[in-house]
Amino acid sequence: MSNRYARSQIVLHWLTLLMVILTYAAMLLKDSVPEAWAPLVKNLHFNFGASVFALMLIRLAVRTLHATPPTTPPLEEWQEVGAKIFHWLLYVVFLMLPLLGVLTLAYGGKSWTLLGWPVPQWVTPDPVMRKLVKTVHETLANIGYFIIGAHALAALYHHYLRKDDTLRRMMPGK
Ligand code: HEM
Ligand code: HEM
Repeated sequence: MSNRYARSQIVLHWLTLLMVILTYAAMLLKDSVPEAWAPLVKNLHFNFGASVFALMLIRLAVRTLHATPPTTPPLEEWQEVGAKIFHWLLYVVFLMLPLLGVLTLAYGGKSWTLLGWPVPQWVTPDPVMRKLVKTVHETLANIGYFIIGAHALAALYHHYLRKDDTLRRMMPGK
C-alpha cells in the first residue's frame, strides 16, 4: 500500500485549507473595507463557504475509493483512535458550518448569489430562528479555529517531535 494519501486527496485537502482561510478572512475583513464593498465581501464569504461544503462532500466520496495510508512508525492505538475522531469532527463541523450559514440567510429572508445565480427564498423568514441559527453558526465558526489549530499542531507534533510520516503522507511528492 502507498505511504501517501492519493494525489486527489492531497490536492483537495490543501485546497480546502485555502478556501477555509478565504472564508474566515472575508468575515474578518468585512468591517475594515469601505462600506460600499461590504456586500461584495459578504457574498465572497457565502461563496467561499459554499465551496468548503462542496470540497468536504467530494473528499468524503473520494476517501471511499482509497485506503488511508498507514503511518510509519505505527501509531499507538489511542493516537489512531484520536486521529480518527478528530478527522470525523472536521468533516462534521465544516459540513455543518456552511449549512448553518445558508439557513441564517434563508431565515433572515436575505437574498444572495451562488456563483452569480440568485438563490431563491426557500423557507418562511423567521427572526427567532434566524437569531438562533446565526448564533450557532458564529459559535461553531469560533470553535472551528481551535479545531483547525489543534489539527495543525498535531501534524507538527508528529513531524518534528514524533518524527513519523503523518505530515509527509499529506504532502505532494513523487
Ligand atoms: C466553512 C464555512 C464557513 C465558515 C468557517 C464561516 C465562518 C463565519 C464567521 C467566522 C462569521 C463571523 C462570526 C462573528 O462575527 O462572530 C460568519 C458569519 C456569517 N456567515 Fe459564515 N462561515 C461559513 C460558511 C458560510 C456560508 C456558506 C454562509 C451562507 C451562504 C454563511 C453565512 C454567514 C452569515 C449570514 C453570517 C453573519 C454575517 C453578518 O454578521 O451579517 N457562512 N461566518
Ligand atoms: C495548517 C493546516 C493543516 C495541516 C498542517 C493539516 C495536516 C493534515 C495531515 C498531516 C493529515 C493526515 C493525518 C493522518 O492521516 O493522520 C490531515 C488529514 C486531514 N485533514 Fe488536515 N491539515 C490542515 C488543515 C485542515 C483543514 C482546514 C481541514 C478541514 C477543514 C482539514 C481536514 C482534514 C481531514 C478531514 C483529514 C483526514 C483525511 C481523511 O482521512 O479523509 N485539515 N491534515
